[in-house]
Amino acid sequence: MKPLSSLLLLTLLVGSLFSCENNVEEDTTIALDPVSETPVDSEVPTPQETPNEPQPDTPPTDTPDPNPAPQPVVISFSEDVKPIFDSRCFECHRGNRFPDVRTHASIATNAAIIKSVIVSRRMPLGGSLPNEQIELIRDWIDNGALNN
Ligand code: HEC
Repeated sequence: MKPLSSLLLLTLLVGSLFSCENNVEEDTTIALDPVSETPVDSEVPTPQETPNEPQPDTPPTDTPDPNPAPQPVVISFSEDVKPIFDSRCFECHRGNRFPDVRTHASIATNAAIIKSVIVSRRMPLGGSLPNEQIELIRDWIDNGALNN
């Protein structure tokens, strides 16, 4: 046990020594920059030229952004779809009238006709769903009506 702990101490010491050396080198290089700038008070135009260079570089950095934008949208039955059936269909389709919307199994079995009456705005009776919810349920059914 003792030789192991002494080995650990050695590695820690050596590691801290190396990290200290790196820090010293970084500090010296940083310290040199302001010193070199201060004596050169007469050369003011040089810092003005540098901001002009990065400006043409900014447009190419914007171009790769639209590439990762398209991402597969995963619609959750339990979190996204079920709450809509519970609040807008359940009162009239809780087992007393076809189709039963209480379970995923019954909704998935009748997915085709449910999608049809929602997209055509026949249901829910008394006021159709907002476009966002119609598209959400339509996409969820088109993706296989998963129980996710
Ligand atoms: C206010 C009551 C009410 C609500 C809310 C309601 N329905 Fe209905 N639904 C009915 C009645 C009544 C019928 C049978 C008469 C008819 O087809 O219009 C029916 C029939 C259906 C049918 C069968 C259509 C056919 O051609 O056989 C489907 C499918 C359906 N509803 C789905 C839904 C869905 C999905 C929702 C929620 C988005 C919903 N309903 C909300 C009352 C309702």
